[in-house]
Amino acid sequence: MVGMMGGGVVMKGGGGQKTVLITGVSRGLGKALALELAKRGHFVIGCSRSQDKLKSLQTQLSSDDDKHLFFNLDVCSNSSVQDLARLVMEKKGVPDIIVNNAGTINKNNRLWEVPEEEFNAVIDTNLKGIANMLRHFIPLMIEKKQGIIVNMSSGWGRSAAAQVAPYCASKWAVEGLTKSVAKELPSGMAAVALNPGVINTDMLASCFGSSSSLYQAPDAWAPKAADMILNLTMADNGSSLSV
Ligand SMILES: NC(=O)c1ccc[n+]([C@@H]2O[C@H](COP(=O)([O-])OP(=O)(O)OC[C@H]3O[C@@H](n4cnc5c(N)ncnc54)[C@H](OP(=O)(O)O)[C@@H]3O)[C@@H](O)[C@H]2O)c1
Repeated sequence: MVGMMGGGVVMKGGGGQKTVLITGVSRGLGKALALELAKRGHFVIGCSRSQDKLKSLQTQLSSDDDKHLFFNLDVCSNSSVQDLARLVMEKKGVPDIIVNNAGTINKNNRLWEVPEEEFNAVIDTNLKGIANMLRHFIPLMIEKKQGIIVNMSSGWGRSAAAQVAPYCASKWAVEGLTKSVAKELPSGMAAVALNPGVINTDMLASCFGSSSSLYQAPDAWAPKAADMILNLTMADNGSSLSV
């Protein structure tokens, strides 16, 4: 099930304006990136599960009203992502860039103390959620012969840490998935794994506790991330990058 949150159809403009689809825009990095890209005149398509937060983001962007599109969606649902792809094609056409940002982390715990449902939620969101997105959007990008895919990884997709084994496993998997799918993409496209750095979000507070407030805020991070993401080319295909 996908709920669409208002928004009309606007023709894609020239002048380097890009249509960027970001998953997980209700808070944290996804929201900050959506606001930054919108501020720069790009078109944002966003999704997340919490409808009220999507609504408030839409209100924040209300001067641009109908330009951006928001969908109430769980990336773990393959059929919902399939519906999303159909709706995006109807309203905007193939996105220039997809940022697979939606993610979750287990509560700090040793692996054998992490409940099965929690382990599954981390893998279903961080890994299978990205696979769902790639399953439905890559064929559209291939048809258009262009497209940039950014899969949100982590420092913990390249190193190990106690208490967050499910999360580390999911992000190492994101790195492997990204490098492998990169080998399958035709010329004109690129998929990269992006470690965003360490940023003070709900997710960081979950694993770092109160010391998360010592780290940069999402709105300080977003301009650097936007510069990087907007400048990716097919030459970056298969890379593991960091903001
Ligand atoms: N913050 C950091 O320091 C850091 C470091 C390394 C990597 N990362 C990665 O960066 C990404 C963003 O992290 P963050 O810190 O911004 O996390 P966050 O503050 O917890 O935000 C996560 C976002 O993902 C969405 N989301 C979660 N599950 C979803 C689902 N099943 N379907 C759709 N949307 C879903 C959430 O929205 P709803 O709950 O409304 O669905 C929310 O908008 C994640 O992939 C994370 O692993 C972050």
